[in-house]
Amino acid sequence: MLRSHTCGELRISDVSKEVTLSGWVQRIRDKGGIIWLDIRDRYGLTQLIFEEGKTPDELIALVRTLGREFVIQATGTVTERQAKNDKMPTGEIEIWVSKIEILNPAKLPPFMIEDETDGGDELRLKYRYLDLRRTPVRNNLMLRHQVSKETRKFLDNQDFIEVETPVLIKSTPEGARDFVVPSRMNPGEFYALPQSPQTFKQLLMVSGFDRYYQIVKCFRDEDLRADRQPEFTQIDCEMSFVKQEDILNMFEGLIKHLFKAVKNIDLDTVPRMTYTDAMQLYGSDKPDIRFGMQFVELNDLVQNKGFGVFDAAELIVGINATGAAEYTRKQIDELTEWVKRPQIGAKGLVYIRYNADGTLKSSVDKFYTEEQLKAIAERFDAKPGDLMFLISGEVDKARKQLNELRLEIGSRLGLRNPDDYKVLWVLDFPLLEYGEEEKRWFAMHHPFTSPKPEDIELLATDPGKVRANAYDMVINGTEVGGGSVRIFQKPLQQRMFEILGFSDDEAKAQFGFLMDAFEFGAPPHAGIAFGFDRLCSLFGGADSIRDFIAFPKNNSGRDIMIDSPSPIAQIQLDELAIAVNKK
Ligand code: AMO
Repeated sequence: MLRSHTCGELRISDVSKEVTLSGWVQRIRDKGGIIWLDIRDRYGLTQLIFEEGKTPDELIALVRTLGREFVIQATGTVTERQAKNDKMPTGEIEIWVSKIEILNPAKLPPFMIEDETDGGDELRLKYRYLDLRRTPVRNNLMLRHQVSKETRKFLDNQDFIEVETPVLIKSTPEGARDFVVPSRMNPGEFYALPQSPQTFKQLLMVSGFDRYYQIVKCFRDEDLRADRQPEFTQIDCEMSFVKQEDILNMFEGLIKHLFKAVKNIDLDTVPRMTYTDAMQLYGSDKPDIRFGMQFVELNDLVQNKGFGVFDAAELIVGINATGAAEYTRKQIDELTEWVKRPQIGAKGLVYIRYNADGTLKSSVDKFYTEEQLKAIAERFDAKPGDLMFLISGEVDKARKQLNELRLEIGSRLGLRNPDDYKVLWVLDFPLLEYGEEEKRWFAMHHPFTSPKPEDIELLATDPGKVRANAYDMVINGTEVGGGSVRIFQKPLQQRMFEILGFSDDEAKAQFGFLMDAFEFGAPPHAGIAFGFDRLCSLFGGADSIRDFIAFPKNNSGRDIMIDSPSPIAQIQLDELAIAVNKK
């Protein structure tokens, strides 16, 4: 090997050893005849030292030709440092160098390879291999490795086996948009990249594999956000002969194991909340329960008192920001403007301030007596020093808007500490949701999700009321995983496709293989998939999953390092029988 030790390894106990290190030049300080050079590799930094008079002149001259990011090999003697650096694991020693070899010179990098870099997002993505040299980004990937290792360890211990499923599959109309791949051998026909291995893992249950998992790439052509990439990774799992409760317990076990192994956190039993409660209390199916500020509904208290806006509203709902009474008028006005932005879309924001002296002041004072305001404050369980915010409108919209406001106020009040983890199961999702534009029902999770047996009758009369045996795991307001108990009998699966507007022929063409399989002894089964990138970014305390993926896409879905997507040659297009409409 080109080294005897790594750059993070040497300690005071190694003093007087002759060592060889290889790595990159992190920085050089050249002061009054003494030169210090930090050499870096994946494992850390070690200080090299040279001194005019003590170090041979040719070596000093050579060191002065080195630049940042040169790849070098240095041989010398480990010595105790005079000025120790207790922030560096190797900070007690330095190497008196006797020999340097330049393994490869380097151009000046386009941004600083330091923990805090001066490189903007796009520049860092263009030179991702350099960005990956930075310690925080490298640490994220090491964390990712640890999460995958611990996941495999846990699932292996529980008798799950990893099976690979195909990447070239079939396009289906449900779910997000597919990425498609043209087939040369079948002109005019296309594969699709899997949005998830859903149908394959169900088929593996029919095959009797009993417990399957896969850490697997999934592809979805959807609009990108901080927590979404077009290709992302799932921890995809399926089990046979289980009920919902078994899945919840098993995967609560996985998440507890990961928290312990990765963060050394002992997680309590994960609380559970129904979808209906989540929507009513937090206006979201992925509530951030690191803080309270639950919704309080006020229709009976505030309607018919002469305030037209509330009288006309389907729902008047509010939150109490504990201890926020000192918000100034200006701050409240600013929040009002914030909720009125098109992204949130509220028509307005009513506030009731509970002053320290016990009096109440609201933006709708002229419609409500002090007595009536007191009754509202009581419903909120508010105390002097609190500030209540009310939003009104159609039920779904008002809840959604108040959810945004709650999260914003939570952030402003410092209640969303990334080191504080609150895990939650959300249960009993509706089976179906109605697409107003398409005028048809859609599966809320996916078409293979089983309705709750006690709700099956409602399929004929009130499909929107049917609850599913479907569950999500939510951590700090992020959906990290979701799954369901599956349909495993052909007639019910057929019925489901019918409700989703598939004709018999369409259902057969799209999913005939699955329904056929259900006729050959399909066991009851259920499963879940975790968003692996999201889990990693949560463990890393970051909002964006991008820096937990080695080579991510930018917000327009481009890999700007390899410049993809890109046009292909006419000859390739011809082979694929594809005519491109050039803009
Ligand atoms: P679902 O569509 O809920 O379920 O996906 C599972 C989890 O994957 C993560 N996720 C994403 N992460 C990053 N970028 C994306 N574009 C993205 N989309 C989803 C989320 C989500 O909770 N087959 C079912 C699972 C099952 O029923 O077993 C499925 O794919 O964290």
